[in-house]
Amino acid sequence: MQSIAIVNQKGGVGKTTITLGIAEAAAASGLKVLVVDLDPQANASSGLGIWNGTPSIDDVMSEPRAGSALEAICPSRWPEDGPNPDLIPGSHLLASREPLLAADPVGAQDRLRLALAGIGHDLALIDCPPSLGLLSINGLFAAERAVIVTEPAAWAADGVDLMHNTVERVSGRLGTPRLSGIVMNRVGRTRDNRYWSEQLEERFGTLLLPQIQLRAAIAEASGQSTTLRALGKRPGATEAASQFDALWVELSSDLGFNESNGRPEAAFETPSTTIDS
Ligand SMILES: Nc1ncnc2c1ncn2[C@@H]1O[C@H](COP(=O)(O)OP(=O)(O)O)[C@@H](O)[C@H]1O
Ligand SMILES: [Mg+2]
Repeated sequence: MQSIAIVNQKGGVGKTTITLGIAEAAAASGLKVLVVDLDPQANASSGLGIWNGTPSIDDVMSEPRAGSALEAICPSRWPEDGPNPDLIPGSHLLASREPLLAADPVGAQDRLRLALAGIGHDLALIDCPPSLGLLSINGLFAAERAVIVTEPAAWAADGVDLMHNTVERVSGRLGTPRLSGIVMNRVGRTRDNRYWSEQLEERFGTLLLPQIQLRAAIAEASGQSTTLRALGKRPGATEAASQFDALWVELSSDLGFNESNGRPEAAFETPSTTIDS
């Protein structure tokens, strides 16, 4: 199973939104996707139509046990005729779990990594909380890749630097995760937006992944616990879904998935035909 931790210690930048958008795009490409809701606010779970799901991620994190996440996996409640990721439900109890993790004398950075061992999904997306605490560290320890989400707003670059540094500290110790890149989210058309976008482009250049614009349809899809595809003709929904598809194309090739169907590259090459139009 491949895995991506979606991180930023700042709240409200769009980690959960990006997690759900990538989940939709990856599931639509044919992958078996698992969303891991590691934020005590449990917004990813609500976005997938699950409230107070049990067992939850808090049960998973309560003890170090290999493969324990399997017992907490449930299907999302997104429309049945579309992309349908699975979920490990979030729980507000996680907020009080974090200090308990800190008291583990053996260290508790790798509980999630251990819990996910042997899970058979193609891709796990780990929606991390807005902090640099042990929960986010567990997300990073469990992931092959990290994606930092930010928005074109004042001093965003400083926050990205701090998170980038944390990702590198973990990978320096463990070998993973590698930073896939930075997603600029909520990109709008105001002068302020343009100014801070340019700052991020100057500072991070090629680390920037395809961006996601500010669109009401995106907030509506999560608010209604549904997909952008299911919003159908709602203005901006199709465009937003295309932007997430473009982001997923880049992430999937970075992870070694085959772009045509999202699945891992086959061991043999299928001859490709070129169609001239
Ligand atoms: N691209 C976007 N367009 C419109 N609204 C967005 C977009 N990204 C995020 N939002 C909204 O901004 C708020 C914060 O996003 P969220 O994903 O919950 O951030 P985080 O997980 O980093 O705290 C939510 O209400 C969400 O619906
Ligand atoms: Mg969130």
